[in-house]
Amino acid sequence: MIEQGIGAKFQEETKYDPYRVRKPGDSESIPPAEPFKNYENPVAVFSLPDPDLSVGANLWEILRKRRSRRRFHTERSLSLESLTRLLWAAQGATQRYGRTLFRTAPSAGALYPVETYLSVRSVAGLAPGVYHFRPQAFDLEQLRDRDHSIDLARAALGQAMVADAQLTFIWTALLGRSRWKYRQRAYRYIYLDAGHIGQNVCLAAEAEGLGSCMVGAFFDDHINALLGVDGTEETTIYLSCVGIPVHG
Ligand SMILES: Cc1cc2nc3c(=O)[nH]c(=O)nc-3n(C[C@H](O)[C@H](O)[C@H](O)COP(=O)(O)O)c2cc1C
Repeated sequence: MIEQGIGAKFQEETKYDPYRVRKPGDSESIPPAEPFKNYENPVAVFSLPDPDLSVGANLWEILRKRRSRRRFHTERSLSLESLTRLLWAAQGATQRYGRTLFRTAPSAGALYPVETYLSVRSVAGLAPGVYHFRPQAFDLEQLRDRDHSIDLARAALGQAMVADAQLTFIWTALLGRSRWKYRQRAYRYIYLDAGHIGQNVCLAAEAEGLGSCMVGAFFDDHINALLGVDGTEETTIYLSCVGIPVHG
């Protein structure tokens, strides 16, 4: 017997069908949420250098080599140049059209509900802490000014690689950016959007000679609390730890 629960109900209720794309109650209008998030009083704002994209990489070779890496050289630091390219791969702006900032990864309706945060343990030239990335300014807003990698590893069900990695990406979704248009189906699209961003980071990490591992297993509200987001309107959906891999 198929297990009955919210999953099957979710799948059913977020299906489009040709006769009824809009569901009951969908006609009331919902105002769209702000497309860009800015903090009023960050601890500090760190401007990032322009990413040097002239370094080159062979996409086919990277696709062939990519693997989830879970062991990292803990004593070494990631370079700021690498971090800059990783962030650009995640959500770098590639074109502006009116208020829309097209990015390196696709997004349903170009609504970009996903926000990128970083837990930094060891990056040369960047203090350990928790940061919020702003694609529109290409900078980092510092939210916390100490290393939280152990807290994050505990929140990731005790996965040691999260404590060992030089940094961990944390992706949240701001539901209000998608829901006014896609209603309940927005809950599907946020995960698809995050998957595209995550894959860009996996491939960019491989291109940098780094290792990454996606993380879907975590205590959601522990990470929401670390970021100071409410877990409803903005909630953590995915992580990726990145570090200098130990091969073999
Ligand atoms: C949605 C998702 C969640 C994942 N969560 C975890 C995780 O919490 N911990 C972990 O060690 N690996 C996690 N992984 C990595 C997978 O275990 C890994 O991709 C899989 O074993 C295939 O290996 P490969 O990535 O080396 O090709 C996750 C991958 C995906 C796509």
